[in-house]
Amino acid sequence: MKPTKKWLIGLERPRHGGDVWRYGDGLLDFSCSLNPLGPPGDVVRAVLGSLDKISCYPDDSCSLLKSELSMFMGVAEDLVTVGCGSTELIKAFADVFVEPGDRVLVEHPTYSEYAFYCRLAGGVVEKVPLCEEHGFTLDVDCLFEHIDSDTRAVFLCNPNNPTSRLEPKKKIMEVVEECEVRGVLVFVDEAFMDFLRDGRRSSCVPEVEGHDNLLVSRSLTKIFSIPGLRVGYGVGGRCLVEYIDKARISWGVGVIEQLVAVELLRSCGSYLERTVSLVEQEKEYLYRSISGISGYNAFKPDANFLFISVRELRVNAAMVKAALLGEGILVRDCGSFGEEYSSFIRVGVKERKPNEVLVEALRKLPEKIHGLGGPARKKRSVTEGAMWRQ
Ligand SMILES: Cc1ncc(COP(=O)(O)O)c(C=O)c1O
Repeated sequence: MKPTKKWLIGLERPRHGGDVWRYGDGLLDFSCSLNPLGPPGDVVRAVLGSLDKISCYPDDSCSLLKSELSMFMGVAEDLVTVGCGSTELIKAFADVFVEPGDRVLVEHPTYSEYAFYCRLAGGVVEKVPLCEEHGFTLDVDCLFEHIDSDTRAVFLCNPNNPTSRLEPKKKIMEVVEECEVRGVLVFVDEAFMDFLRDGRRSSCVPEVEGHDNLLVSRSLTKIFSIPGLRVGYGVGGRCLVEYIDKARISWGVGVIEQLVAVELLRSCGSYLERTVSLVEQEKEYLYRSISGISGYNAFKPDANFLFISVRELRVNAAMVKAALLGEGILVRDCGSFGEEYSSFIRVGVKERKPNEVLVEALRKLPEKIHGLGGPARKKRSVTEGAMWRQ
């Protein structure tokens, strides 16, 4: 039977990186951008210590976790909500605020869940392009031109996935303030902000007190390298948070997740400091090394991952991914962000040794692909190349 909500017909679930379930163990996984240090040592102890609570339902109000998060972020507790991953907050935001027919603006390319959950709620999603010639920076005037009386919300990802570009806080707040005047909500996704040395200063979290239309989402997934434990949080205007908190799935954040998250937030100081230093050093290493190999155009990363055009190899990202899989390396084929990104890959920053393995594999790749009698030898165009997707 077809759904009564006609807009659901043909809607596809987004594709993600990190799909090791499909490709099996033992791969060097650069396709999702997690903390290269791996989870802090305290996680295992905290998980084991919480096992005796699994026969209890989780605390549905998540009160201890919210209180810990409010101290961690330095905001009042009633400005904080939590979710099973920040993905739940994207869905809850769309469920609460987007009605069928409402227009929603998203950058392009960006994380696909904003468009997905807004469409699921019946919203009409419009993409505001980030231009390659301008280094994928947000054109605020262009964004404002897209806003009309039907526009309900704007989603911004800062730093943006997959471009790894950080927009200055001033620019994001310019959007928030203009949207406030026009009655439009702004969802700012800061899932990768903790990897930046200036993350605290670049974050819009301190601004939520004065801006009722702003919700900032954050995640424990990436920074603590715990995608298998689902914990995210949102900080926003009181009214937004109140309603999003109502729309959370009951008991969505599990017992283990809540207890482990509290432990991590209490003890993460030096781990975060080591993370930032390592990421700073290794993203620079990858950027310089990959930029030095002909055929690749790496964009300067702000976050802990690199966005790389392979257009000059005259093959598409799917072929690059397939060839690297043969070397035991998994990268993100950015074709799922849109056909125009089918010649881009994204790689997460790891520690030096695996990074060197990646660089070496990328160096040898053109020869490997040419040797397969592939497209590069025949000098086909990128558009033609896109047809060879596997
Ligand atoms: C920009 C961005 N936001 C949010 C998420 C979701 O993270 P979580 O695990 O907190 O649901 C991702 C995951 O890839 C992401 O890239």
